[in-house]
Amino acid sequence: MTIYRHFYVKSHAITTPKINLKDLPGSAGRMDVLARCINSAFWLSYGIRKNVIFHTILHGEPNPPVYIRIEGERLRKMAPDERNIAIFIKKALERMREDKEIESTPGVFVCKKSFKELLEENKDKDFYLLTEGGKNIKEVNIGNKPFFFLGDYKDLEEKEKELLYKYKATPISLGKKSYLSSHCITIINWFLDEME
Ligand SMILES: C[S@@+](CC[C@H](N)C(=O)[O-])C[C@H]1O[C@@H](n2cnc3c(N)ncnc32)[C@H](O)[C@@H]1O
Repeated sequence: MTIYRHFYVKSHAITTPKINLKDLPGSAGRMDVLARCINSAFWLSYGIRKNVIFHTILHGEPNPPVYIRIEGERLRKMAPDERNIAIFIKKALERMREDKEIESTPGVFVCKKSFKELLEENKDKDFYLLTEGGKNIKEVNIGNKPFFFLGDYKDLEEKEKELLYKYKATPISLGKKSYLSSHCITIINWFLDEME
């Protein structure tokens, strides 16, 4: 049985396809952080992790929230560098429909969706909130439908954390140091690889 690894990163990136690919950290609302998280979620030296599903909601102006999901099993043609990943986000924003989810490029899905809707749709999964003050991951029995939630360069807001706890999320920690979100994803992938 394949155990799928779900990751959610809250993003403050912009929600217009008018992205300056030369300014991902600035005018694109830290889209560089999001691109690095996607890189960490999927890439191995010689391939893509097919058992990863990456979720994000873009919260930047002018049209939030925009939900994007990337599925490793269907993902094609994306290269691991930040600029190329951003091109696929740009295509998703260009092709997005207001009324229904579409697959903008192979393995990349886009639609309008709130955080609450995302949690409700995935409530069959085992939710884990990544937070420095949580229980050490080494002491947690990770379930077989794991779904990890992280902030980007900013933490999740209190109301989002409260909502996660209503959905019985477990707060887990990778240690007392505060790591970059993309590094957290690499650590989790490594940790789960070791457990397999
Ligand atoms: C760069 S940190 C957030 C930045 C910082 N906390 C702030 O808002 O100023 C990005 C995310 O990584 C996760 N994170 C970082 N270090 C962690 C740790 N030691 N254990 C668990 N999660 C961690 C948290 O989910 C956090 O929201």
